[in-house]
Amino acid sequence: MKLKRLLLLVLTCTSTANAIAQQQITILDSGRKVSIRGLSVVNDQVFWASGSNGSVARSVNGGKNIQWITVPGYEQRDFRDIEAIDSNTAIIMAIAEPAVILKTKDAGKSWYKVFEDSTAGMFLDAMDFILKYGIVIGDPVNNKMFIAETHDYGETWQKNDYLPALFTGEAMFASSGTNIKGSRKPNYNRLIVTGGMKARLISLPVNRHLGDIQIVLPLVQGKESTGANSLAVYRKNIFVVGGDFASDKDTTGNSAYSTDFGKTWRQPVTPPHGYRSCVEYIDSKKLITCGTSGVDISDDGGKNWHLISTQSFHVCQLAKSGSKVFLAGSNGKIAVYE
Ligand SMILES: *[C@@H]1O[C@H](CO)[C@@H](O)[C@H](O)[C@H]1NC(C)=O
Repeated sequence: MKLKRLLLLVLTCTSTANAIAQQQITILDSGRKVSIRGLSVVNDQVFWASGSNGSVARSVNGGKNIQWITVPGYEQRDFRDIEAIDSNTAIIMAIAEPAVILKTKDAGKSWYKVFEDSTAGMFLDAMDFILKYGIVIGDPVNNKMFIAETHDYGETWQKNDYLPALFTGEAMFASSGTNIKGSRKPNYNRLIVTGGMKARLISLPVNRHLGDIQIVLPLVQGKESTGANSLAVYRKNIFVVGGDFASDKDTTGNSAYSTDFGKTWRQPVTPPHGYRSCVEYIDSKKLITCGTSGVDISDDGGKNWHLISTQSFHVCQLAKSGSKVFLAGSNGKIAVYE
């Protein structure tokens, strides 16, 4: 009896240890020395990434093979965000001069323009999609944030007639395409985080007559390199990361969380170990965050974080339907956390 119990205990411990040991970052083949900031994971097999030098990467087998594409005519452009609809369909965003959004339906063989704006000062930061609805945000022109929306998987885009006002020197980072997220908050279903001179959460209204809600985040702010870079949303919970990218090991004011749709904010007991450009919920309690100084995991809803890698990544994304997290960064580096 005693022996059996001991054996069971040993078996239980071993399998738990194995489960933990299996969760690690594995670098997948990286074919091209470009900076990747856009990443969209359809499922555990299909992901797309995008970055500088007109580059798009695509895999349909979980990263065993990664196909690199250069979008013709866009060799000098930086695609800071991508939304993958499926293995054949994706939408990419080129930031400025002119700001352009392109779409492919044939696995990246051909691309067509679905949006273009050559307004001086126009700089697109990020896109977010919920099925066929999509939103793109851009840095302020005349102190008003730029917003356009699509209702047909990015085929056509309309500039919003409601554009929130920002402070001078406040803008959004185009560091990982994750500073705009959908929310279930009644009447305010899209959340945006800002940086620079101010770091705020801006909640966009479903009806323009409600106006937006802005709240200052307890993150480092006041310099061009500071503020919020990314937010993750899980029901009423929001986790925000950022910091100072010019001082990427500094943990001061690099993160905060809310459990009430962003009304009140707290800082973690043990914050992530440096500036972080992207954060993602893996489940209700587990989160992952990455930045140029490493990758951290939290198992308690974001209160405490532990460093799991000192490798640099710009973006981490959980499969929309699946369990794997993929990461991407500079030097064409693409990895999987599983
Ligand atoms: C990317 O573009 C830059 C400037 O146009 C060039 O110097 C660099 O060699 C390119 N990198 C790759 C990997 O093509």
